[in-house]
Amino acid sequence: MRGRLGRECVYVPSCRFGLFVALRHWCPPGGRVLMSPVNDDVIFFVVLAAGLRPVQAPLNPLDASIDVDAVPDELWGSLSAVLTTNLYGNPDDAPRLRARCDALRIPLLEDGAHAIGSEVGGRPVGSWGDASVFSLSKHVGAKAGGFLSCADPGLREALEKTCEDLLLPGRLTAELAYTVRPYAEAAVRGLRLRRAAWATMRMLGLMEREEIRMPLRAEDLGRAVGAAPDLTASDSWVRVDLHDYRLRSGGLRLGRIGRKLDHLDEVLAACRAGTEQLLSTRWARPGPGRAGEVGEASGAGVGGAGGSGARPVAQPLFRVPLFVADRDASIAALARRGIVVGYLYDPPLDDYAGAGFTDLSPDPDGARWFARHALPVDPLRARQVIDVLEESGARPAEAPGGLEPTRG
Ligand SMILES: Cc1ncc(COP(=O)(O)O)c(C=O)c1O
Repeated sequence: MRGRLGRECVYVPSCRFGLFVALRHWCPPGGRVLMSPVNDDVIFFVVLAAGLRPVQAPLNPLDASIDVDAVPDELWGSLSAVLTTNLYGNPDDAPRLRARCDALRIPLLEDGAHAIGSEVGGRPVGSWGDASVFSLSKHVGAKAGGFLSCADPGLREALEKTCEDLLLPGRLTAELAYTVRPYAEAAVRGLRLRRAAWATMRMLGLMEREEIRMPLRAEDLGRAVGAAPDLTASDSWVRVDLHDYRLRSGGLRLGRIGRKLDHLDEVLAACRAGTEQLLSTRWARPGPGRAGEVGEASGAGVGGAGGSGARPVAQPLFRVPLFVADRDASIAALARRGIVVGYLYDPPLDDYAGAGFTDLSPDPDGARWFARHALPVDPLRARQVIDVLEESGARPAEAPGGLEPTRG
């Protein structure tokens, strides 16, 4: 990762842990952080756990990047930091955000969890911020691990020390559970027991998310916010989907993560091919009249904001948001073929959490439109998904009112 980003990196057990460390290091207590409302709720809870106030940004409805021009002047002046999301690997406009943050003398923090391999302004996502964080649970598929990188190499030791202070000791049971889990999951799949396994987990009260968003539990959250900055007080929200997020990694875990990381370039190349295929479909961008047939190259996302100039790059690589008129019907059609659509972030965080826990977006429509319409597709399954959408007669979504149906 040091080679990819050209800057110092510290290994962390999860991206969320790295983000907590970065927020604590770079933001003053009680500071205000501009972030995207179309984001994993875990990230929202990390910001709260760090003792900071989330401020929801207006978004471009076509890629969920922060709409830099739609942030009011008085809002810029109130911020302590900007946190990008780079949703699904579609980059935020880091060059312009960098310039804004420099002018305001506040830090830019980049969440690159979805964006290993993405570029913006001719540089990798994660190389613009004072700090950036990455997850190895996503592209690498290791279900553990991450990196915290920093622009100033002199900060490496201090960050390592902060991580040390916050890490919990590794447990043999957690290491063993991590090691056997893929085999257990493969067995459940092989025996076609997936439905029974879900039902049993639900019965045992082990399901943390029945809906896209986890239950907020406002009263308990209010108490956790009162105790912030404190990861322990916020543990029941921050740990969702990854209970080992702050455990020191043992040898078994590091071994598997390392082996997975060795294949990163192959994975990214395969993702790039799938992304090119998905971006050439008529669902790649909304709006009647602009829709091409499957196979017609639209060029959307190829060499756009992320283009390095030398050779156009296809992105996003983690998921490609397609825009279908009836998303629920498409999700159901895909589920019937065993394709589970994840990484949905609907409703936006301000609609989910309310003004008690976050500043609401000054212009929420773009985020709402994207959250409701985007169908995030794994580029590694591009062909299968395109076939299902074709067979089920999925129509492209209509462009949001008053918007030019173009992107990039
Ligand atoms: C945008 C984003 N950032 C960060 C994370 C957290 O990554 P990790 O699970 O490695 O903590 C996620 C998790 O899905 C995410 O979607």
